[in-house]
Amino acid sequence: MKGKVNKTTRGSFATTFGIIAAAAGSAIGLGNIWKFPYEAGQNGGGAFLLIYLVILIAIGIPIMMAEFIVGRSSHKNPVGALKEASRSATGGIVGIMGVIAAFLILAFYSTVAGWTMHYVYLSVKNVFAGLSPEEINLVFKQFIAGGYAPLFWQAVFMIITVGIVLLGVEKGIERYTKFLMPLLFLFLLILCVRSVTLPNSIQGLKFLFVPNFTAINTQVILNALGQVFFSLSLGMGTMITYSSYFSDKENLTKTAIQVSVLDTIVALLAGIAIFPAVFAMGLNPAEGTGLVFGVLPQVFNALPGGQIFAVLFFFLLVIAALTSSISLLEVITAYSCEELNITRKASTLWGGLLSLAVGVFVTLSFVPIEGLSSGNAIFFDFLDNLTSNIMLPLGGLLIVIIVGWIMDPKIIENQLRVENPETNIFYKTYRLIIRYLAPIAIFMIFLSSIGFFK
Ligand code: PFF
Repeated sequence: MKGKVNKTTRGSFATTFGIIAAAAGSAIGLGNIWKFPYEAGQNGGGAFLLIYLVILIAIGIPIMMAEFIVGRSSHKNPVGALKEASRSATGGIVGIMGVIAAFLILAFYSTVAGWTMHYVYLSVKNVFAGLSPEEINLVFKQFIAGGYAPLFWQAVFMIITVGIVLLGVEKGIERYTKFLMPLLFLFLLILCVRSVTLPNSIQGLKFLFVPNFTAINTQVILNALGQVFFSLSLGMGTMITYSSYFSDKENLTKTAIQVSVLDTIVALLAGIAIFPAVFAMGLNPAEGTGLVFGVLPQVFNALPGGQIFAVLFFFLLVIAALTSSISLLEVITAYSCEELNITRKASTLWGGLLSLAVGVFVTLSFVPIEGLSSGNAIFFDFLDNLTSNIMLPLGGLLIVIIVGWIMDPKIIENQLRVENPETNIFYKTYRLIIRYLAPIAIFMIFLSSIGFFK
């Protein structure tokens, strides 16, 4: 049988909890625990957090709702769904851009997820016990510059991702997220308690929560925008894909708020676990991509039973990364299977393989290779920037324009269960945001980041 599926055979989530777990599973991942702290650390701490929260509420949540509306009203993959919402074939281009973004994100996501797997292994071997902060940092630097081990773990991670997607929507996604994510949450809480009880931790809390307004510039705002999109899995059709499996009973507004709040809490917990420890140990908050991998082993060292804790924590982080990576691959699979008429199995396989092929170069960008790579992660930074700061916000901008200006308002009212659109304040505010505020804000951030207002 070819990959064509119709509304009744493509399946749907069985329970409300399953829906939130899957959407939150996509949102919560390395973006919260690895990327948020390193972005906050490089972009002024409290100032970054403040802008992040403003963008989350004003732009992020409304766009997540817009993606839910597009997905559930069509029950299709992002390309088909956006064609339907925009009432023209050109709308599908936005979906295709999303599929490309999914490829590229998966390419570097698997690199970092591979690092996390290696850290499970290193923790099992108790490598970090008794090491000084400098030595722990060195372990990370030598590992990523080594080449073979990161490539090996990246491939393992990709194989597992492909394997889960091959099992299908319900079994593949719902089953694993339900109980492991609450456990990760609990572990993060314990890490926070340990971190804030370290000497000098108050400095770290101040760094994260007290905004220094002089640190705000256009790059910080663009990075915060990109982080909102990356962390909430927005702007590339992931949430369109997931909501295409939602049942009609689900309240989209409530789900969008629940997912966003959970996602933000996890990022904040990660920040609280990291920054007090960074300051307690005299490290640099602007360390970059290695921040979490350099700091967390030190917090584990300061915990009784730290080794077991470290093993379990990095394991759970791998699971969190998996629930995000399967959502990335699902975008590619659903598209290729429903639009290109390739079987689901083949779609998943070639999607994973192609992304891994690009991912190999991402991993190698950390390895100094004569005449080929400086080892300064130029390709990694390029992909990260291109996807988070350009492709996702651009995708979000176009989605919100389609929903705000082109889609039949009746469908939106229906999806949001609005009965009197003329008098409903919530709905009127929502229309205002998606028609004016969100698109104009994203556009202005783009313009200012290319120096337009200088
Ligand atoms: N939101 C995920 C995270 O924070 O780790 C990453 C991600 C998943 C981004 C899916 C985009 C996406 F479509």
